Amino acid sequence: MPETPIDAMTEEQAVLELTRLADEIAHHDLRYHQQDDPEISDADYDALKRRNAEIEARFPHLMRDNSPSLRVGAARSEQFAPVEHGVPMLSLDNAFSDEEAVEFDARVKRFLRLDEAVAYTAEPKIDGLSCSIRYEKGVLVQAATRGDGKVGEDVTANVATIGDIPRRLAGTGWPDVVEVRGEVYISHEGFLALNAANEAAGQKTYANPRNAAAGSLRQIDPRISAARPLRFFAYAWGLISAPFAETQWEALQKLKAWGFPITPQSRRVEGVEGLFEAYRVMEVERPKLGFDIDGVVYKVDRLDWQQRLGFVTRTPRWGTARKFPAQQARTLLEAIDIQVGRTGALTPVARLTPVTVGGVSVTNATLHNADEIARLDVRVGDTVILQRAGDVIPQILAVVAEERPKGAAPYVFPHECPCPLKTPVVRETTATGADTVVRRCSGEFACPFQKLAHLRHFVSRRAFDIEGLGEKQLVAFHERGWINAPADIFRLHEKREELLATERYAETSVKNLLEGIEARRPIALDRFIYGLGIRHIGETTAVVMARGYGSVAAFLEAMDKVAARDPEAVEELDAMDQIGAAVIEAAAGFFAEDHNRAMVEDLNGQLRVQDAEKPKTDTVVAGKTVVFTGTLERMTRDEAKAQAERLGAKVSGSVSKKTDIVVAGPGAGSKLKTAAELGVQVLTEDEWIAMVGG
Ligand code: IVH
Repeated sequence: MPETPIDAMTEEQAVLELTRLADEIAHHDLRYHQQDDPEISDADYDALKRRNAEIEARFPHLMRDNSPSLRVGAARSEQFAPVEHGVPMLSLDNAFSDEEAVEFDARVKRFLRLDEAVAYTAEPKIDGLSCSIRYEKGVLVQAATRGDGKVGEDVTANVATIGDIPRRLAGTGWPDVVEVRGEVYISHEGFLALNAANEAAGQKTYANPRNAAAGSLRQIDPRISAARPLRFFAYAWGLISAPFAETQWEALQKLKAWGFPITPQSRRVEGVEGLFEAYRVMEVERPKLGFDIDGVVYKVDRLDWQQRLGFVTRTPRWGTARKFPAQQARTLLEAIDIQVGRTGALTPVARLTPVTVGGVSVTNATLHNADEIARLDVRVGDTVILQRAGDVIPQILAVVAEERPKGAAPYVFPHECPCPLKTPVVRETTATGADTVVRRCSGEFACPFQKLAHLRHFVSRRAFDIEGLGEKQLVAFHERGWINAPADIFRLHEKREELLATERYAETSVKNLLEGIEARRPIALDRFIYGLGIRHIGETTAVVMARGYGSVAAFLEAMDKVAARDPEAVEELDAMDQIGAAVIEAAAGFFAEDHNRAMVEDLNGQLRVQDAEKPKTDTVVAGKTVVFTGTLERMTRDEAKAQAERLGAKVSGSVSKKTDIVVAGPGAGSKLKTAAELGVQVLTEDEWIAMVGG
């Protein structure tokens, strides 16, 4: 339905449309901020907000207290403790054209009654999520997401794992209290690696680096955040106990001296010409940065001027974000190929006539799944409109209907895996039996595509971590027929002579490789379980299962029973922390296949799988949920956590009704408050140590 032009709108139409827009924007806010899984592009979202603002501009009396234009972000999630920002975290207004940049500069000069050219900083607008990190006497005490701008989520434990962020400020001259603000993000490289690893583990993959950053930071378990490639750039500050700079430029240099990365592309420019120039340069730099940016932020350099300019409701007068337009291009879809992932998921990939989108040549685009192909009705031979969403992943937005060649047939999703075995493709169902969008090859280890991907996962760093057996060697040995299943890796020493005979392997590298393999015969139970590459059984789940079963024998016995749907065994697995129907289904499905069972048996025969320490059930803290907050002085957080878990306690990152004990060190903040409100037992570190017996 075409949109009514705002000039021609009646008041009734405006009321209806504002209501519709408010609902729609609230829905997308939720998807974006809480579920880290947006449905529409930023450009489309901006368009909704813009239309809302334009209607309100024409009918100011229709603006409601809860209008989307008065809101920054969305409500926080309940999973994290609330943190009130010392100074609100606001948002920037957007400029979409040179004219709007001129208008911004003119407004600044008008407000300050200036004739001379104004100095600005021009900084990349990093596409991640903003975060405020509070330092007291140079020590990191708390970190929070933006949340609704006033109150954010306590992500201290997670932020403390980010290498770019100093636990203690370097240098000198920092105010006693300072909230350093900046962007948590994930680089392109980190994003691709994370998605590849998640794909391989049968876990959720992210649509773009920003969602990946948000999803990775907002983890209940900081160990998961720690394992994610999170990065940080500082660019602003909130509450400060004393001023520390006279200009934004000087402030950036100070932040750098205190140990924060700042964007090297930031510049100081003069006047509107300087703003234009900075934007052009950033457009050229953008594809080479290695991380996503969605525009350039202009800020009045002098902080006394910033102070005078102040804010209009939710955005500063002293700054604006010059956004890049969405990067789109048209090209021809030449073919649709099917890729098979390690878990057998079939992903259709569009092969395109190469086209440049925003400085990068694009030849492929994912079509996600059969439903997406049907939704787009995309056919081989079609001209398609391509967009680089976020920045990295090219997406097909639409088909240009007028340019469809005659006779182009609707795409039929294959019923057989493209592998030589031609195994039948099944539509994946959830644990409750509902259809999902995923089609899967049912061959698992028998499917050659999956086999190689399984092996790759098996030797990967977080699984068996076999030194010297990288992707290249694995493919080569697989092609020679030496490695067909995981157990074959441990029989590779039988091929020593052949290995030496191939000109590519020098004596020392063969020796190192075989030693690397030998070193992994004794293997921790959780790595063994994770290495099997069963869908939904990622690293964390593997650790839980290893602790739950204790030994490989107990694990295998239980798995056989789960596969046979033995109610007691299923219940035992179900009772383990964070294990639900999806894991049970996946484990049962995997072990019900004879070839998988035989593969595991063969592998186990080659190894000495070490017992996992079972969590104790006979200690004072067994089964209790414990939260550590503030600075611990006699042990590190990791030590404290490991000790508590060894004693059978569950360690959580946030205080809730389910918390039994809060151990609070100096500097403990909102968690302590929440604990008091909920009447949760609070212990000092010494009391805790006394309780658990040293
Ligand atoms: S300064 C009053 N500088 O853009 C807000 N923000 O819409 C001051 N962002 O929430 C923010 N790069 O998440 C600033 N160099 C930069 C930025 C930047 C990215 C994000 C940030 C902020 C949003 C504003």
